[in-house]
Amino acid sequence: MSILNLGVLASGRGSNLQSIIDACAAGLIPARVAVVFSDNPDAYALERARLAGIPAVHARVGAFYAKEEYEHNIIHILTKNNVNLVCLAGYMRLVGTELLQAFAGRIMNIHPALLPAFPGLHAQEQAWNYGVKYSGCTVHFVDEGMDTGPIIIQAVVPVREDDTADHLAARILEQEHRIYPEAIKLFAEGKLALAGRRVRILA
Ligand code: GAR
Repeated sequence: MSILNLGVLASGRGSNLQSIIDACAAGLIPARVAVVFSDNPDAYALERARLAGIPAVHARVGAFYAKEEYEHNIIHILTKNNVNLVCLAGYMRLVGTELLQAFAGRIMNIHPALLPAFPGLHAQEQAWNYGVKYSGCTVHFVDEGMDTGPIIIQAVVPVREDDTADHLAARILEQEHRIYPEAIKLFAEGKLALAGRRVRILA
């Protein structure tokens, strides 16, 4: 089986990026992180990439005339690094048409809630404030909506009686670090079949 080249897009601390780097290094998934891109020059994700010897590239959207140009630049970076699968890992921007078309069916995202509940920003806090008894996280394919694409894997995290929003978020993050590498592994092994909104996991 040939190795999958991942392009990871991240805006912040990059703990999900780290879980992907570690899973690749441990041989748990037949993939390698070929390049990391950030829209935030100060993202710690860039430092994590450098420490792992992975090309780390950044560009602010404001540096471009239009979002289309910004995305063309990302597409150029990804194709130059032979990326087969794009993984959004705390990338806090909506993906535009350019990028979606260039990598149709090959962009994944991780979200810290049980979608379709609590899309958007601060999902863990939204769930906590709503008073749910269960939350969790979701890996899904990306479409033009905000956290609306077909669901690949979810993990459920029960809310405890003595919980705080921060403790809940920390337990959700632990599950994120488990299911994102798992979803990438399934993709790399050709085990994800998309039928409408449904993602079937093949044996
Ligand atoms: C993660 O909790 C991820 O699920 C979330 O941002 C955090 C990034 O953390 N993403 C979203 O909310 C996307 N809607 P990380 O930089 O440590 O991976």
